[in-house]
Amino acid sequence: MSTGIRGQKGTRKANPIVNLAWVPGNRFFWDGRASSLEEQALGPITNPIEMGHTAEGVVAALEAIPGYRPYFAEAFGDDRITIERVTRAIADYERTRLAGNSVWDRWRRGVDERQVTDQIRLGTKLFFGRAACNQCHLGQDLTDGQFHNTGIGWDAAAGRFADEGRAVVTARDADRGAFKTPSLRDVARHAPYMHDGSIATLREVVELYNRGGTPNPFLSAKVFPLGLTDEEIDALVAFMEALSSDVPFETPPTRFPQ
Ligand code: HEC
Repeated sequence: MSTGIRGQKGTRKANPIVNLAWVPGNRFFWDGRASSLEEQALGPITNPIEMGHTAEGVVAALEAIPGYRPYFAEAFGDDRITIERVTRAIADYERTRLAGNSVWDRWRRGVDERQVTDQIRLGTKLFFGRAACNQCHLGQDLTDGQFHNTGIGWDAAAGRFADEGRAVVTARDADRGAFKTPSLRDVARHAPYMHDGSIATLREVVELYNRGGTPNPFLSAKVFPLGLTDEEIDALVAFMEALSSDVPFETPPTRFPQ
């Protein structure tokens, strides 16, 4: 779970910021409630348990720091600070964060297969074959941009979802407990997993799929027991690890405009 102001815990894990310049369906957040990165950027600023600010408050705070003005002038032609400009700047920054050129990509592009183990090859075959992960994780970023119920967050004792997911936006029964398929790019670099951060390792994620997800009344028909052996589970993990890009994480700045 992501931590906001005064150490408050949100109910969902933050989405990784990677390869967001082109997102299938243009739906952001785990439940797809935002339709642009700009809209998504505004969310945490005003969310009471994330930053707990207001749009006006953010603008006033930035206006009080002269060091920001030249940046706005450079980016937008004049130094006026508006919430639209703030969210546009954040969104454009996010669009520059890319992942690719992994061991797996270099192999698939025919550039270099020296680091591709037999385990990675087997994992690839299973992912796009018998394990059928590519029913939902597909394309360049290994996501269909759609919403599916894998049973994460189903509370069997209470007979309800801890979080209704996509249904919060659509109010459709079919969307109850459904969340957006996350991209698997760089996935080995950002545990824990799932919208609620409830799964610690990639191996446990695959074990859950192998059992057929968490049973609940709205479970996707695309999630079913897979009958994978231990060796095959390890191979799927190795495949996902091979998706890690060689781009170092950005170090956050320690000094800010004054
Ligand atoms: C029915 C569509 C579907 C299928 C099939 C599917 N996934 Fe997923 N996957 C999802 C959704 C949706 C989530 C997010 C679920 C949530 O958080 O509630 C997810 C989450 C994940 C995550 C966690 C990523 C993160 O950043 O938290 C991993 C890893 C993953 N899937 C791997 C796999 C593998 C490996 C397979 C095949 C064995 C597979 N998936 C099959 C839809 C699917």
